[in-house]
Amino acid sequence: MSSKLIEQIDNLRKSMKAIILAHNYQRPEVQDIADFTGDSFELSRKAAGTDAEVIVFCGVHFMAETAKILSPEKTVLLPDEEAGCPMADMITPEQLEKEKAKYPGVQVVCYVNSSAAVKAGSDICCTSANAVQVVEAVKKNRPILFVPDQYLGHYAMGRTGREMHLWPGYCPTHVKIGVADVRRQKARYPDSKVVVHPECRPDVIDEADEALSTSGIIRYARSYQGNTLIVGTETGILHRLRKENPAVAYVPVTERSVCPNMKLITLEKVLWSMEEMQPRIKIPEPIRRRALAAVERMLEL
Ligand code: 13P
Ligand code: SF4
Repeated sequence: MSSKLIEQIDNLRKSMKAIILAHNYQRPEVQDIADFTGDSFELSRKAAGTDAEVIVFCGVHFMAETAKILSPEKTVLLPDEEAGCPMADMITPEQLEKEKAKYPGVQVVCYVNSSAAVKAGSDICCTSANAVQVVEAVKKNRPILFVPDQYLGHYAMGRTGREMHLWPGYCPTHVKIGVADVRRQKARYPDSKVVVHPECRPDVIDEADEALSTSGIIRYARSYQGNTLIVGTETGILHRLRKENPAVAYVPVTERSVCPNMKLITLEKVLWSMEEMQPRIKIPEPIRRRALAAVERMLEL
C-alpha cells in the first residue's frame, strides 16, 4: 500500500513542480519521501531558495507560514491544518504589543516558533540554530524582549551574558524531559555524551554536554566518537540519526518527548493535500511584509 502511495506522491511531485520539505521530527516514512529534511533554519533557507512552484510542508503551521512569508508567489501546503505548535500559540500579537509598551526602546527577538502576526510585531527572528548569534547582534544599549520561549531565551541569555525580558512560553514536549531522566540514562550509559535541544529546561541543559538545534544534533552525531549517544529532544529525530550514522546507538533521554502535532502528517495526508492543493497557507499581505523584515534580518546575519 505504501509503495503505491509513494508512487502517486512522486508522480504528482513531478507534474506539479513541487518540493516536499520535512522537519527532523516527522514520521520516518514522511522523512523518507521528502526532498529535504532539516531544522527550522535550514527549512526556511530551502523555502526561500527553491524554484519549485509548490512547497508541501511536512511540519507544523509556523514552519509552513515561514515558507509562505519568504515565498509568497508559491503555493504552500500544510497537509494537516491542525498541525500547530502550542508554544507558538502562547503569545498573541495583542499580548506582544502590551508587553513592548512596558520597555521603551525595546528590541523584540522572536523565536521562529511564533505566528506571522507576532513576527510582524518583532524586530528580528531567530531559530534554535542561531538564537545566540541573533541576540549578540542586537545593539548593546537596547533592552531586549525575547518571545515566546522562555527556555531558549534563558539559554541565549546565559551564552551571551545579555539581560533579556523573557515571555513565559515553553514547549510542552521538551518540558517533559526531566533532569532525573538525564541522570538515569547517564547512569545506564556512563561513557556516553548527552545532547539536548535548547527548548529544554535550564537544569536539563546544565546536565547535558551540548544544547543544539535538531540539525546541530545530527551534525554532532556525525563526528561523535562514542558508542552510544543520549538524545534529549523530540524522538522523531532518532530516525534520521540512525539512518545517517548507524555506527552509533542512540537512546532518548525519555520516550515521553513526542510532539503530537508533528505526528499529524502522514503519507496519506501528503497525497490528499497534493491532489486537492489544500490546505493552503494564507497570510494577509501587510502582515507578511512586516514579518518578512524580521525573518530577513535573521537570514542576513
Ligand atoms: P529546530 O529548529 O531545532 O529543528 O527546532 C524546531 C522545534 O520545533 C523544536 O521543538
Ligand atoms: Fe512546538 Fe514543541 Fe512541537 Fe516543536 S516540539 S513544534 S516547539 S510543540
